[in-house]
Amino acid sequence: MYLHRMGWLVVGIGIFPIAACSDDASTSPSDARTVRYRVDITPVTRVEDAKSGVFIPPFVDCRAPLEGSSTAAPNGQVCTNVAISGATEPDKAFESYASCDVVRTQRPYWPAPPAKTPDPSDPRLANAAYASEVAWAKSQVAATGCVCCHDKTAPSGASQWDISVAGNWLDTVSNGGLALFAGLADSSVLGAYPSIDNHGFDRTSVGLPSTDPDRLKKLILAEMAYRGMTEEQARAVPPFGGPIYDNAVRPPVACSGQGIDPEGRVVFRGGKARYVYLLEAGSKNPGVPPNLDRPGGTVWRLDVLPNAEPLESGFQYATTPSGSFQDVPASSPAPALHPGKTYQFAAIRDIGVPITNCLFVFGNPLGEPPTPPPPPPTSDAFGAPCTDNTGCSAPTDYCAVMPGQPAGYCTKKGCNDDPTVCPGGWSCFDLSRFDPGAPSICVKP
Ligand code: HEC
Repeated sequence: MYLHRMGWLVVGIGIFPIAACSDDASTSPSDARTVRYRVDITPVTRVEDAKSGVFIPPFVDCRAPLEGSSTAAPNGQVCTNVAISGATEPDKAFESYASCDVVRTQRPYWPAPPAKTPDPSDPRLANAAYASEVAWAKSQVAATGCVCCHDKTAPSGASQWDISVAGNWLDTVSNGGLALFAGLADSSVLGAYPSIDNHGFDRTSVGLPSTDPDRLKKLILAEMAYRGMTEEQARAVPPFGGPIYDNAVRPPVACSGQGIDPEGRVVFRGGKARYVYLLEAGSKNPGVPPNLDRPGGTVWRLDVLPNAEPLESGFQYATTPSGSFQDVPASSPAPALHPGKTYQFAAIRDIGVPITNCLFVFGNPLGEPPTPPPPPPTSDAFGAPCTDNTGCSAPTDYCAVMPGQPAGYCTKKGCNDDPTVCPGGWSCFDLSRFDPGAPSICVKP
């Protein structure tokens, strides 16, 4: 790796692992041990072990098959990706092999009424061939993380579509939902596993994970046709993902006062972070696991465990503060940074909630954050000259006259109880300290 001499000086002695400045093998064991990697931590796999409301990253859960069931897996265990886009073996129920409680930390869950309540005596289900396709599609969903919210067994009921509803469950899916299922509307920002790592379930050619995407697509296209919905209409459905989609496509801005400063301090504003990234400029924005959270060009990524407090701005690059571990690089120190080079920097409150995503030039002072917007304009009434309270118009209600002065200025009472009554920059002064029974008033800057 290239790093010129100047860069090393700027980067600062003792901040960056020695090995990072070249390809030589000079990392001393103690350097390596100060940084925690994924292999050094115990992942959080239970909701009760995580801080409330925190996204528990996907992991693999391996269990012996339930009694009466079997697996062809070489290790004799059923291994399941515990994730929204994860799946267990196609003939098994996801909920029997993975924690839906964990999956429900990975996106908001709420119950919602079905797009349409099925007619329990739907004549279409009298067609055995059709009924068996609908039942097959249900079994596919039952083997995936989707079941955690799209089945009436979800804690407060299904989120709109419900595979256990009486009658034809496809009725409960909205038209937009069918477009997603069929892969005609884009839902890629929600993440997908390679089918080879997910018991054959693919979520790239169709939106509903399936071991036989063509078969699923055929069923969904038939349902669309039955509803009189065209492929063109389905393709016109905007990409799914809401804010996650917006975050994926929003270009990074200039880092004003954020990034990694010349001394190696990681600086971000707007709260604490659970994930911090440094990427090559021009990388895709960090997205959701399992496949969008390490975009090509990721130089460094730090994760905070779900059972630890998120990180405050100001820690040192290439270190792993308490509760955190280095995800990228997975087993070698963070690379030294090149002075003069532009990097992309992202700090993320939790998966899907970026705090900042911006570009900065390493080596330059980070500068000041953009000046906050000026306080709301002071109402003309505040500060207007007066000789008594009656001369003060709303919102002011008090004429503050200094002892011995003939006139004063209009202001407002009551700021001790409610500091927000004062205009920006004004402070609160409690006159009762001098005159019991007198009010607290806003005073000029
Ligand atoms: C943690 C809960 C949860 C999981 C897991 C989940 N969803 Fe949902 N899903 C929701 C919620 C909540 C809604 C919104 C319901 C509403 O308000 O209409 C929804 C709605 C949908 C819709 C309807 C969208 C629309 O515009 O009508 C589709 C399609 C969908 N989900 C697909 C999936 C697929 C595919 C999976 C699995 C890969 C999945 N969901 C997993 C919670 C979840």
